[in-house]
Amino acid sequence: MSKQNTAVVVLAAGFGTRMKSVMPKVLHPIAGRPMILQLLDSLTDIDPDQIVLVLGPGMESVSDAVASAGYSFEIVIQKDRLGTGHAVQQTEKILSDFKGDILVLYGDTPLIRSKTLVKMLDARKMSINPAVVVLGFRPFDPARYGRLIINSSGNLDAIVEAADANEDELSNDLCNSGVMLIDNTILFNLVSDLSNDNEKGEFYLTDIVKLSRQNGRECIAIEGDEEELLGINSRAELALAETIIQDRLRETAMENGTTLNDPSSIYFSYDTKIGRDVVIGPNVFFGPGVEICHGVLIKPFCHIEGTFIEDNAIIGPFARLRPGADIGQDVHIGNFVEIKNATLAAGVKANHLSYIGDTKIGKGANIGAGTITCNYNGYKKSMTVIGAGAFIGSNTALVAPVRVGQNSITGAGSVITKDVADNALAITRADQKNIQDFSIKLKDKEERE
Ligand code: UD1
Ligand code: MG
Repeated sequence: MSKQNTAVVVLAAGFGTRMKSVMPKVLHPIAGRPMILQLLDSLTDIDPDQIVLVLGPGMESVSDAVASAGYSFEIVIQKDRLGTGHAVQQTEKILSDFKGDILVLYGDTPLIRSKTLVKMLDARKMSINPAVVVLGFRPFDPARYGRLIINSSGNLDAIVEAADANEDELSNDLCNSGVMLIDNTILFNLVSDLSNDNEKGEFYLTDIVKLSRQNGRECIAIEGDEEELLGINSRAELALAETIIQDRLRETAMENGTTLNDPSSIYFSYDTKIGRDVVIGPNVFFGPGVEICHGVLIKPFCHIEGTFIEDNAIIGPFARLRPGADIGQDVHIGNFVEIKNATLAAGVKANHLSYIGDTKIGKGANIGAGTITCNYNGYKKSMTVIGAGAFIGSNTALVAPVRVGQNSITGAGSVITKDVADNALAITRADQKNIQDFSIKLKDKEERE
């Protein structure tokens, strides 16, 4: 089957005042990335020929975010925000000659699934050749949405905005999600015929349904799920969107063979990759850029981002793995251990209370409790290298740049500022002095005075 030609228009000119933020609404993150990237991800299955973003003035941060995610797209700036119909009209100079369909998406409705968009494309191929396919849904609270008016043949006659609807129309709970697929041979003619004679004084894109019908064309509505079509206008809706996406990510992880001991307390990033037979305890948070291989155990209360974890490692409880942590096979990372930009080869153990930053650790080395790599002198970061089989005594401070040789030992409590040769002992603490009966003599002295 040949691919359907589709261009996507994303309407995102609104700044999102109800978010009460200095950042454009579509950049607020869901599962660790801006919501507009979540939306664009839903286009994978339809593979559009062109993407056009309609932005407001001064929203370069949005185009930067989309460009840095690798999308190719064009931008149209809508100077005055005169309505969704007016917003689409701004794309005419780019899309008027496009041979295919135009899919209109709203930047603040990012939870739509790829398979739902495919259904819309399929619906355009129906024998009645619908001019417009609208994605409808039945929300729990339909109050503010436009209503879809269905005729006796089951096709769509009009979309009536809530502000303009009569009681009868408002009692209908089939609502407009805003997602529309439109035959491009008529789109820009219809849009230029829109009027703003309505309650809000805006050029409504939704009126193209009525205009298509007047031109003798059929329109249809298909139904999607509310959890895909939530529009994000406030922080509360952003939080709701986050729970919806997290539930999807948890479900996918479990379907792919991960055990989640308490799914609702585990937070994934959109890109978390997990191998087979990984077990994740309660209250674990994954930031972006985490890849976990097979058989790994992540105990409760870990915070992990930008990290690669090889087979059968054991992490936590209460571990913090920061960007650049590269955890080898069978490594054990215990409680209150923080690791950043460090490579730990197979079998390394760092079980208690450590900071390991800008460090390379060879196979099987043991990092004692309280070991700190002093990687920053207030101006620059320096590397610590620990050889295979080394034994770093508890409470060792390794002042970087410094190198500890293979199979060497540092004495507990040492401050290591110079390189240590292979197989050596480095110890920097003062010799211990024992004074017999000191406490008895002290007591006598104090009581005499
Ligand atoms: C719109 C629909 C309504 C639907 C609802 C679903 C219209 C007229 N109404 O209403 O039927 O039920 O969405 O959430 O389309 N935008 C621009 N430029 C503009 C105006 C809007 O880019 O001039 C963008 C906004 O940034 C937003 C989207 O279009 O991403 C929707 O605009 P909004 O004002 O939220 O429309 P609603 O009143 O919610
Ligand atoms: Mg809206």
